[in-house]
Amino acid sequence: MQSLSTFEERLSVWTTNAMRSVFDLADTEVHLGVSPTNNEKFGDYQCNAAMELARALKKAPRQIAQEFVEAAELPDFVEKIEIAGPGFINFFLTNAALSEYVQALESDPHLGVEQVGEGKTVVIDYSSPNVAKPMHIGHIRSTVIGNAIDRLFRFRGFNVIADNHLGDWGTQFGLMLIGFRNFADEAALKEAPVEELERIYVASYNRSKEDETWRDQAKAELVKLQQGDAENRALWEKFIELSIEEFNTIYERLDVHFDLYRGESFYNDRLPGMIQLLEEKGLAKESDGALIVDLEEDGMPICIVRKSDGGFNYATTDLATVEARVEEFSPDRIIYVTDERQQLHFRQFFSISKKLGMEANLVHVWFGLMRLPEATFSTREGNVIKLAALLDEAEARALEMVKKSSPEMSEEQQKDLAKAIGIGAIKYTDLSQNPQSLVTFTWEKALNMEGNSAPYLQYAYARISSVYDKYHVQYPDMELSDHPIHIEQAIERKLAVKLTRFPTAIQSAAENYRPNILADYLYDLAQIYSSFYQNVPFLKAEEGVRESRIRLCRVTAKVLKQGLSLLGIETRERI
Ligand code: ARG
Repeated sequence: MQSLSTFEERLSVWTTNAMRSVFDLADTEVHLGVSPTNNEKFGDYQCNAAMELARALKKAPRQIAQEFVEAAELPDFVEKIEIAGPGFINFFLTNAALSEYVQALESDPHLGVEQVGEGKTVVIDYSSPNVAKPMHIGHIRSTVIGNAIDRLFRFRGFNVIADNHLGDWGTQFGLMLIGFRNFADEAALKEAPVEELERIYVASYNRSKEDETWRDQAKAELVKLQQGDAENRALWEKFIELSIEEFNTIYERLDVHFDLYRGESFYNDRLPGMIQLLEEKGLAKESDGALIVDLEEDGMPICIVRKSDGGFNYATTDLATVEARVEEFSPDRIIYVTDERQQLHFRQFFSISKKLGMEANLVHVWFGLMRLPEATFSTREGNVIKLAALLDEAEARALEMVKKSSPEMSEEQQKDLAKAIGIGAIKYTDLSQNPQSLVTFTWEKALNMEGNSAPYLQYAYARISSVYDKYHVQYPDMELSDHPIHIEQAIERKLAVKLTRFPTAIQSAAENYRPNILADYLYDLAQIYSSFYQNVPFLKAEEGVRESRIRLCRVTAKVLKQGLSLLGIETRERI
């Protein structure tokens, strides 16, 4: 089947061509296409070109609109066209075209989403916690937001490489090595490895502040590690293994999966070459014994690429990483997801990589840190919250809700449902806000059954599914496909129009790296569905109308399920 193009695209092509044939617009830059209206009173799409063309055409906008409407011949999917206000041109789609489109959605595995990524690779660098340290709130947000972006790109046909760029290299490993040999508690390591590794590090660090010999020993151990000493290497690998194992239990619960776990150390061998390249291109220069790249012309502070002690920096590793990724994957773009505090770092190495002529489209998606009001988490320490405990609490609270709403369910079902709701609630809170605005987490909001929350959408989905089930029980012999979708009532129409906009919501969420655009869409859709459900009869409607509505229901359920799954949120048919 030919891919479904959206009404927005079809209409935009049409208005652009029609404008050009009615007026002489040889070299105009004005956008001649349409955009969705936000009030159905003004039709389904609007074109604002008349206002913007007024100066070039030396005519009043309304007159331009008038001439356009009189001269243009409407495409068959447009019912009528109206002029409003200062010169908006409003388009009303025909019910037949809407019906047909929604019916096509029903059988399209991509739900109308264009496979623009076919043949293209995107590397997404997200989560990326540091070995031997607990994930902080920034890593958690990176995991949830990065994973939604990952899913959105895959759904659009991109070959996505999800790469967990672990912080597994650096001077701290000298302290870790001697700390481990002196302070490690085997039992604690089994119980909570990362926590124990962190404790060891802190103890070793504190000792180094008072004890010069300790400091020197740590340095010596680091040098041995860097030179490939077998024993130190093995221990360092153990730190990584223990950390990844623990991170994985969290990824498992969050249903997050990586294609690669290439830590910073993976790029070590490339660092001297990168320095050489920077020097050859005349980009790096000595300054106080260090090697730096001057970024003054880009309005940024200098970037140190090699410290005076010969060690390399975070930026050097990131440059080598870009080089390696470009070589190996020829990606269409590389997307990095971190908290706002790293903006300068990314701007700096993006700019250097451009100067080096590296062919890569680099994107930094940053987000603010979530505010955790005091007393929200019993498990909170500073910026570090114990994620496992947070997820446990979410599931426990969800289980209370489920026990009340679905007392007839078996305990096993209740737990399964509570897991979907609890984890969904945490993710949705993160994803439903503009990533760059300050988010305050509260349990009331996350688990609010009436508001913009995961449970609200999950319940909406289950209610839709149950309508469909009831229909099957009452009319077991009906073939839905014998009855076409037929949009008539205003509220049906509103629902259909919203469904046709799913592809646009996906595109916009992905291209702006803002999953909240999709979350908003799904919330609106669920609300429109609920007024549809309350205002028209379903099972009691006459034959034909009934089937059409059931099919409309089914498409709504499909879109909701798919949309939530792109946010990494699970749905259940029964709640
Ligand atoms: N490990 C870093 C941190 O915890 C994040 C790494 C982000 N990715 C990158 N390529 N720099 O802050």
